[in-house]
Amino acid sequence: MKTLLITGGAGFIGSAVVRQLINDTQYKVVNVDKLTYAGNLQSLISVSTHPRYKFEQVDICDAAEVARVFREHQPDAVMHLAAESHVDRSITGPADFIQTNIVGTYTLLEAARAHWNSLEGERKANFRFHHISTDEVYGSLGDEGFFTEETAYEPNSPYSASKASSDHLVRAWHHTYGLPVVTTNCSNNYGPYHFPEKLIPLVILNAVNGKPLPIYGKGDNIRDWLYVDDHARALRTVLETGKLGETYNIGGWNEKTNLEVVQAICALLDELHPQGAPHAKLITYVADRAGHDKRYAIDATKIAADLGWKPQETFETGLRKTVAWYLTNTDWIKGVTSGDYQKWVQQNYTERSTA
Ligand code: NAD
Ligand code: DAU
Repeated sequence: MKTLLITGGAGFIGSAVVRQLINDTQYKVVNVDKLTYAGNLQSLISVSTHPRYKFEQVDICDAAEVARVFREHQPDAVMHLAAESHVDRSITGPADFIQTNIVGTYTLLEAARAHWNSLEGERKANFRFHHISTDEVYGSLGDEGFFTEETAYEPNSPYSASKASSDHLVRAWHHTYGLPVVTTNCSNNYGPYHFPEKLIPLVILNAVNGKPLPIYGKGDNIRDWLYVDDHARALRTVLETGKLGETYNIGGWNEKTNLEVVQAICALLDELHPQGAPHAKLITYVADRAGHDKRYAIDATKIAADLGWKPQETFETGLRKTVAWYLTNTDWIKGVTSGDYQKWVQQNYTERSTA
C-alpha cells in the first residue's frame, strides 16, 4: 500500500483531495498542515478516523519537523498544496506568502530530496514530488488567447510571484538534482468547504444573510472556473500518469466575468432560497483590487490529450451543487463564520496524532 504525503490537506482543495483519496483509492494519506486560518479539520470529519488517514500539525517551514515526518511516514509520493492562497491578503500582508510559498516549498524540496536519496530500487524509481500551482503565474490575458504550458511567466501580485518562485524552485530541483517532479497550474476552483473570503462562497453567504455582494471595479474581470472535485481528479491523474519534469495546465473551459458569476449565484438563490429574492439587488460595486488581473483562461488540451482527463462538471452543474451545499451544511458554515472551527481543533485534536 503506497503512502502519499499531502501538504495543505486541511485547506479547500487539499481536503477535497484527501476525501477523494481515502474514499476512492487504497492509498495511505498523511496530511501535513500547519492549520492557519485557512486550515479546517471540520472539512475532514468524514475521513478523520479512517485507518489509512493520519494528520500531522506541522509548518512546512520547520525543517526539523518536516524531516521527522518524512522519516516516520516514509512516503512514496508528495502532493504539495500548502500555501497562503488569497490574493487580497497578499496585497495587504505579503510576508506570510514569501515564507510559506517560497521558503516552505524550499524546505519541503530539501526534505523530499534527502528522503528520495535514501530510497532504493523500485521505491526510488517510482517516487514523485507533485507541486500544485496556479494559472496566476502566467499573468493576465487580453481579450484573446489562452495560457498554455509554454506561456511565459509574468506574475503580477505578491501571491502569484510567490507561487511562480515556488514553481521555479521545483523546476530547478528536477534539473539540478534529478528530483522526480511534476507541476500542475490550475484555474479558479469553487465548490464545498471553500473559505468565505473568496468570491463564490462570500457571495453565497452574504446573499443568504442580506448583506452587500461586493464586486471589484466594473465586474468585467474574467476567471476560468473549475469544480474542486474535478481538480482533485486531475491531480490524481497527473500524480499517477504525468510525465516527470512536465507541467500540466488544468482548467474547465468556463470563462465568466465576475458579474456573470455573481448573477448566476443570485439566480440560483432566488430558486433555492427565495427569502430575500431578488438577491441581485444586493450587488454593490466597490473599489477595485490593486493590480487586478483582467482575464485568466486555461488551455487544458495537453492534460486531455496526453492523460485523458476532462472535467465532469459544467459551471452550471457545479455551481448548483455548490449553492445547495452552502444552504444545507450549516454546521460547517457556523464553525467558519463564528471562528469556532479553530477552537474545535484545540478541543478535538491532541498534538501530532488523530489516534
Ligand atoms: P487554502 O488557503 O484553502 O488552504 C491552504 C492550506 O495550507 C490550509 O489548510 C493551511 O492551513 C495550509 N498551510 C498554510 N501555510 C502552511 C504552512 N506554512 N505549513 C503547513 N500548512 C500550511 O488553499 P487552496 O485554495 O486549497 O489552495 C491549495 C493550493 O492550490 C495552493 O497551493 C494554491 O496556490 C493552489 N491553487 C488554488 C486554486 C484555487 O482556486 N483555490 C487554484 C489553483 C491553484
Ligand atoms: O486562478 C487561480 C487562483 O484563483 C488561485 O491561485 C487563488 O489561490 C484563488 O484564491 C483564486 O484567486 P482569485 O483572486 O481569482 O480569487 P478570488 O475568489 O479572490 O477572486 C475572484 C475574482 O473576483 C477576482 O477577479 C476578484 C473578484 N472579487 C473577489 C472578491 C473576494 C470581487 O469582485 N469581490 C470580492 O469580494
